[in-house]
Amino acid sequence: MSLLPHGGTLIQKLALGADVTHIKKEVELDAIALSDLELIAIGAYSPIEGFFTQKDYESVVENMKLANGTVWSIPITLPVSEEKAETLSVGDEIRLVANEVTYGTLTISDIFTPDKQKEAINVYRTDELAHPGVKKMFERGNVYIGGEISLVKRPEKKFADYYFDPKETRARFAELNWKTIVGFQTRNPVHRAHEYIQKTALETVDGLFLNPLVGETKSDDIPAHIRMESYEVLLDNYYPKDRVHLAVFPAAMRYAGPREAIFHAMVRKNYGCTHFIVGRDHAGVGDYYGTYDAQKIFSNFTADELGITPLFFEHSFYCTKCEAMASSKTCPHGKEDRVILSGTKVRAMLRNGELPPSTFSRKEVVEVLIKGMKETANN
Ligand code: ADX
Repeated sequence: MSLLPHGGTLIQKLALGADVTHIKKEVELDAIALSDLELIAIGAYSPIEGFFTQKDYESVVENMKLANGTVWSIPITLPVSEEKAETLSVGDEIRLVANEVTYGTLTISDIFTPDKQKEAINVYRTDELAHPGVKKMFERGNVYIGGEISLVKRPEKKFADYYFDPKETRARFAELNWKTIVGFQTRNPVHRAHEYIQKTALETVDGLFLNPLVGETKSDDIPAHIRMESYEVLLDNYYPKDRVHLAVFPAAMRYAGPREAIFHAMVRKNYGCTHFIVGRDHAGVGDYYGTYDAQKIFSNFTADELGITPLFFEHSFYCTKCEAMASSKTCPHGKEDRVILSGTKVRAMLRNGELPPSTFSRKEVVEVLIKGMKETANN
């Protein structure tokens, strides 16, 4: 398995400190666009070099491929309002701004009105506004601006100790002489089931790239700083330090289930992973996706097109009869023997001061979550 980035070249669009004062027009970025800008610039989204033009947008929405045929599943767009679009023209250079700070520049190569209904149905498999990703997409501007970007200022690095660019993680993996690296996406604390599938994968690969998403998430997901603390205590107590690399993934969550699983895999390939874990209902929300839809979608592509090997895991749990973590692939017992708790149920337990069992979550992790809950409640 080669460690080539997606599309063959690690894109670098950094012009840090460049003088942009002569550029008069500007576009305001929301949190998603700001994180996308940075991720494009550091090569996490290779081979993408800017916000989508209409050609790439339509091709991705329709076929999960960029116009040049490279696999890509989630549109990376820069939405603006109709009024803002009126002031912009193809060929303009604009500053990309958030809270009055310029983070990047873009040369406009396209201004177009997307078919958001189609984007919802194709990308999210639903147009219901109860879906947080769909709601967000419809709330954003109705005109998309396409064009290559350059990053002139890094956004503030949250969790700076764990903030690495793909260039850095690739160098680190080479230094550690890891030949096979499994990437793990998460937006949750690492519970026993997550630990089980990570460690099962670790039995056959050289290293684990634990890569929690810390960009925008929906309001009832556990805040990133609490999750980071939970990862630290878990790694300190239960993981072989020299076989795990913890790094944040500063992207926003889309909750696009299957399509987001492909996107998550491509991005981790850019960070240098050779393998990527896809478990139950990856990047899902509510009941919008089937338990294994995010695994099935990989069969649309050849191994060459993907360039990273997905590792699929069945729904895992602790079985009281097996007295071990297991899945329906390895455990013959029934539902009544399995410790299965939904995220919603766990959050409710924590709020009521009830402790989830250690068969569900390590006590050190539970302690961090309870402390975090208290802090959140007091704010
Ligand atoms: S996600 O939105 O980032 O996918 P989460 O952090 O819960 O949510 O999941 C991280 C990864 O672990 C995903 O690949 C998911 O499919 C997998 N996963 C979560 N819980 C389980 C479980 N009980 N059994 C198997 N895989 C799981």
